[in-house]
Amino acid sequence: KKDILILAIESSCDETAAAVVRNGREILSNIIYSQIDLHTLYGGVVPEIASRKHIEKINQVIEKALAEAGVSLQDIDAVGVTYGPGLVGALLVGVAEAKAIAYAAGKPLVGVHHIEGHIAANFIEHRELEPPFLCLVVSGGHTHLVRVRDYGKFDILGRTRDDAAGEAFDKVARAIGLGYPGGPKIDKVAKEGNPDAVQFPRAHVEDAPYDFSFSGVKSAVLNYINGCKMKGESFRQADVAASFQKAVTDVLVGNAMHAVEEFGVDKFAIAGGVAANSALRQAMAQACEERGIKFYYPSPIYCTDNAAMIGVAAYYEYINGTRHGWDLNAVPNLRL
Ligand code: KG4
Ligand code: ZN
Repeated sequence: KKDILILAIESSCDETAAAVVRNGREILSNIIYSQIDLHTLYGGVVPEIASRKHIEKINQVIEKALAEAGVSLQDIDAVGVTYGPGLVGALLVGVAEAKAIAYAAGKPLVGVHHIEGHIAANFIEHRELEPPFLCLVVSGGHTHLVRVRDYGKFDILGRTRDDAAGEAFDKVARAIGLGYPGGPKIDKVAKEGNPDAVQFPRAHVEDAPYDFSFSGVKSAVLNYINGCKMKGESFRQADVAASFQKAVTDVLVGNAMHAVEEFGVDKFAIAGGVAANSALRQAMAQACEERGIKFYYPSPIYCTDNAAMIGVAAYYEYINGTRHGWDLNAVPNLRL
């Protein structure tokens, strides 16, 4: 049986990435150019700057991905690309590039949903993992509790009503003086803090047990800090970070385990940038162990944005027959 090779491209936010994936789960190369240093100056991602940098870097990144995999364009079976959701200008760079390459090389084009990519990151290091399972996708832009019925077949059980989990990490980090990107920094300083030092609210959405809301806990942290400042008191950064992180993980674990019990699944996975969080991994691992179900999570490099995960998702779409035309467009609010 012939190998199937996918060249995958990801440019939905501030990472310019390309990868070559063999037979769905084998990563031959995974090149990521991160623009983080550039955006740190502004305290967050500046869309216009992201688009321009993608244009500057994308050809190099793709060439490197092919070279490292030791393949040429002619060896590729299909070109996979993220076409949404994300920043429209950023997405357009990857989509235009993928169309140009696929057209010139005479290869099929497969558009991929960014969240489907995040979920598929779990297939890379867990060869035995197959649907059905439940997956919590927590990133800078998304907080989705998803039932993965089959490859490429999803039911969204719940989502955030306001801020995404990663967004809350980033905003709180900025407020307590940790800077951008906040998630990894909170993760690190929280290790020195007391998670029970401050009681921040655990928000539940009425009549929607799988939905999330993080704007309340974010405001509570801001109010707490302002209160300290007004009283002329100082606050312990590590304690606030640890207490905030605990409040967020409590809700993520609580809602996820509620769904696990309700749907009677024996496999649970996490994905997305926030899935790299050490406290969340630990809490989820324990909750799954208590329930006797298997827990899956990707290595940190496959949690945050990358093209390897897009290549994995593109492979399953490709073998299911998904093909996109030359009119494929970037869809900033694409639905799963
Ligand atoms: O998946 P991702 O790279 O991009 C999106 O699709 O949004 O996720 C980025 C988000 C950022 O909000 C970042 O602060 C968060 O993931 N993040 C973390 C950690 N590493 C990244 N949040 C908490 N703990 C971490 N270790
Ligand atoms: Zn992402």
